[in-house]
Amino acid sequence: MDKFIINGGKKLNGKVKAGGAKNATLALIPATLLASGTSKLFNTPELNDVYTMLKLVRHLGVQADFNDGTIELDTAGVSVLEAPYEHVKKMRASVYVLGPLLARHGYAKVSLPGGCAWGPRPINLHIEGLKKLGANIDLVDGYIIATAKRLQGNRINFDIPSVGATGNLLMAAVLAKGETILNNAAMEPEITNLAMMLNEMGAKIEGIETPILHIQGVDMLKPADVHTIPDRIEAGTLLVAGAITGGTVTVEGINPLHLYSVIAKLEESGVSVTYNGDSATVNAAGVTPEAINVTTGPFPGYPTDMQAQWIAYMSVAEGVSTVTDTIYRDRFTHVPELARLGAMIEVKDNSAVIKGGNKLSGAKVMSTDLRASASLVLGGLAAHGRTEVLRIYHLDRGYQRLEEKLKQLGAEIERVPGSEY
Ligand code: EPU
Repeated sequence: MDKFIINGGKKLNGKVKAGGAKNATLALIPATLLASGTSKLFNTPELNDVYTMLKLVRHLGVQADFNDGTIELDTAGVSVLEAPYEHVKKMRASVYVLGPLLARHGYAKVSLPGGCAWGPRPINLHIEGLKKLGANIDLVDGYIIATAKRLQGNRINFDIPSVGATGNLLMAAVLAKGETILNNAAMEPEITNLAMMLNEMGAKIEGIETPILHIQGVDMLKPADVHTIPDRIEAGTLLVAGAITGGTVTVEGINPLHLYSVIAKLEESGVSVTYNGDSATVNAAGVTPEAINVTTGPFPGYPTDMQAQWIAYMSVAEGVSTVTDTIYRDRFTHVPELARLGAMIEVKDNSAVIKGGNKLSGAKVMSTDLRASASLVLGGLAAHGRTEVLRIYHLDRGYQRLEEKLKQLGAEIERVPGSEY
């Protein structure tokens, strides 16, 4: 298991480019299952989660080649309609194959994903939505078995604007007979990327970027070539790296509007952020950041995937702040590890209260999940002395060679391939 060794306390300065969005790619790959033939996805990040999704679709019979950020997927030979536990347990997003397999082939058997590192993450909205489209669904031996001759359009109201349920139901509804309305749909940019891809494939989706999606089902879709949007969470993490170290960092190749809630919070904390076109620059030189409260919410609210990074930042800010996660109420496994670096944080219910203004100092810390790992790296960059971040395979699921990007900005960080647990 690889680890990072960070010699912290260095201001980060310079320019770096963000990659393609993990959570968009994880929806775009299954979307190709809706048509027969070859689709190309450009600007794809080289991430472990992407490789996991490719392994799954290859298991279904897709021929997939991944070169230089482009994935070519030929779906003509899809013959297996089952996503086994071995794949799904590695990555919950595997459940995205449910909607497209069912819509195109009339059958899908997909393992139930179970819990995750920070608590329950149900998929009831995916299942209830598919039932509304006329699917028969049985839960047998830990598997969802879904069948339907042809899905029928219907009105579906989500109690929560779930990203995954919106994605899965969109992919199912595009081939259903008649009209489907998804009300209170997720508006995350990754969903917009997916909906635009589906329209490129011949789907008829209206209301993209709004919470009400109207879908007119079509009989057939064709393959499409599509660009993956930039990764707003990677970009946000790099901006916070600039802010937490008191440096000046420009992140290029992004859509700053996808990051507006994070940029606004950074500005409130006292650092300056300028952005235009496809880049954003945080300038924190000489600034002592102030404590700023954050509450996560569905897009365009503050993303839960930037919650852990904000807690790391608030550990060095002046004053007391509260960070509340309304999306994942238990997503705080980074807190005890940040405490090892000297952060003073108390978690109560779904809020963390951070007493800032502490000098962090290096220590050994353990990654527990993807975004938790990112917060530990940020803590290590701000801390004086040597920090070891263990088990960075979690980080590698969602950040493409993060250490290279941080080095480019002047960080002293090394990946040590090794065996320490
Ligand atoms: N929810 C339900 N029932 C459902 C589905 C969701 O109650 O059927 C609840 C969840 O428990 C959660 C809320 O709805 O409280 C939102 O969950 P959502 O379905 O939106 O999350 P997801 O689709 O499972 C995606 C991202 C996550 C990100 C969340 C929230 C992908 C592959 N994953 O997950 O990304 O945190 O949306 O924005 O797109 C990450 O990248 O680190 C990550 C975890």
